[in-house]
Amino acid sequence: MTPSTDSTAFGTRTTDRLTGLVDEIRDVVGRGLPPDITAYLVGERLGPHLGTADLLTPQQREGDPEHYRQHLLHAEPGGGFSVVALVWLPGQRTSVHDHVSWCVTGVHEGEERERRYRLVPATTNGGRARLVATEEVVNPRGAVCGFAPPGDIHRVWNGCADTAISLHVYGADISRLGTSVRRVYDVPADR
Ligand SMILES: [Fe+2]
Repeated sequence: MTPSTDSTAFGTRTTDRLTGLVDEIRDVVGRGLPPDITAYLVGERLGPHLGTADLLTPQQREGDPEHYRQHLLHAEPGGGFSVVALVWLPGQRTSVHDHVSWCVTGVHEGEERERRYRLVPATTNGGRARLVATEEVVNPRGAVCGFAPPGDIHRVWNGCADTAISLHVYGADISRLGTSVRRVYDVPADR
C-alpha cells in the first residue's frame, strides 16, 4: 500500500516542541557517527516527545480513508535527515519494504504492529526467492525502534481500533525522494 503524502505542513506552521526536537536531531546527525549509532542516539532524543499533546498540529494528525498518510514535518537543508508523521486508520498497513537509509520510529499515539522478514535468495530456494518472517512485535505508545540497512525488511500496520500516529526520522531527504522506501518486496512470504 502506498501512502498518501502531504507536504503542505512543511515550511508552514509547526510547533515549538517539534522545532526543539529537530534541533536535537541536528546535533546528533552533525556528529557524523556510523548509521546504527546515529539511529540509536536519535531514538534517545525522540522518546521523551512521544505522546505529548503539543508535538503535532491538528493538520499533522489528519488521516486518509484510502491509505495511511505521510506528513512531511521537516527536511533538513542539505538532505541530512527528514522527519515525518505517519497517520494510520484502523487496519491500514504498508507493503513489505526496506529503506534507503537509517531510520528511527516512535509511536506517538495508539499501537503499531510490525513483522520483520529475512529474504531467502532464489539461489538457495529452488529458483524462487521468498520471505521468511523472523519476528513480530507490538509497539505501544512511547516505543522507539532504530535500525539501519541492510536487514531492515518489514511490514507495519495499525492493529488497534483507533487511529495510530508514529514519528519517523530518516537519514535521507524525503522532500526530494518522496518516500524512505528503497524496495517493495513483491515475493511470496510465509505469512
Ligand atoms: Fe518501514
